[in-house]
Amino acid sequence: MDIFPHRRFAAKFASPVEDKEHILQIAIDMAMEAGRIQLRKFRSRHLEMETKSSIHDVVTEVDKECEAFLIAQIHEAYPTHSVLGEETGLHQKESDWEWVIDPLDGTNNYSQGLPVFSVSIGVKYKGETLVGVVYAPYLDELFTASKDGGAAMNGRAIHVSRKTNFGACVLGTGFPYDKGSVTSYDNNLDNVCALLPKLRGLRRMGSAAYDLCCVAAGILDGYWELGLKPWDLCAGALIVEEAGGKIVPFRQDRPIAIVAGNQALVNRILSLLGKDKA
Ligand code: IPD
Ligand code: CA
Ligand code: CA
Repeated sequence: MDIFPHRRFAAKFASPVEDKEHILQIAIDMAMEAGRIQLRKFRSRHLEMETKSSIHDVVTEVDKECEAFLIAQIHEAYPTHSVLGEETGLHQKESDWEWVIDPLDGTNNYSQGLPVFSVSIGVKYKGETLVGVVYAPYLDELFTASKDGGAAMNGRAIHVSRKTNFGACVLGTGFPYDKGSVTSYDNNLDNVCALLPKLRGLRRMGSAAYDLCCVAAGILDGYWELGLKPWDLCAGALIVEEAGGKIVPFRQDRPIAIVAGNQALVNRILSLLGKDKA
């Protein structure tokens, strides 16, 4: 059965403005179907797993299955679009469009049976992200945004937290996969020491894409992390910005290091980390 009957018409739309909402709908369909694939094997005793960069960094058969599914769907709908996927890298085409996908964000959680994991799909046109979709299937939470079109959670408009009192804030963060091989300065513990004592709470939920969506929805007041990859944040960053938030880099010497939240909170975090305000 063709579950995406509308996709055959998608490639007809020429301009990025016309395409945006159509691509968004297709990305939603794909993300939700990938989420169903994830749920089928969630907490299965027979989940196949292997390690990647180190023993801390795992990939499951479901990461691979979801990536293959998403790439096949994207190329069926848009044969000329490039795709950058975490598990198989860049599938480059002669195109201004690029889909940036994390087929399963939160693999460590997923492989342990912890319920916070997601599918993340960002779509860029000439380097600018125009569409973002993150779906957390166990929670059945769908976050969406299109450039200048606002952000939504399960179809309802969302906005970042308006809190400015740092002591009342709950932030999210994460720890890079190379945490065992870098100095403590580079494994985020220095930042935790600088921020945690001043916060109401700190959470490490285990899916950067979902963390960003929680910021967009005001469920987390803010978030910072370092050592991220483009697929971790392509969709989530647009969702935060379209929800009225800011995403600001805080270090240039590591793979993507960002602070997210409302402008005042981002500046407060930057100052506590000893960085210039944005
Ligand atoms: C990881 C998660 C995690 C973050 C790591 C990411 P993965 O993605 O988003 O929360 O701390 O930096 O690599 O490996 O589960 O796709
Ligand atoms: Ca990821
Ligand atoms: Ca992943």
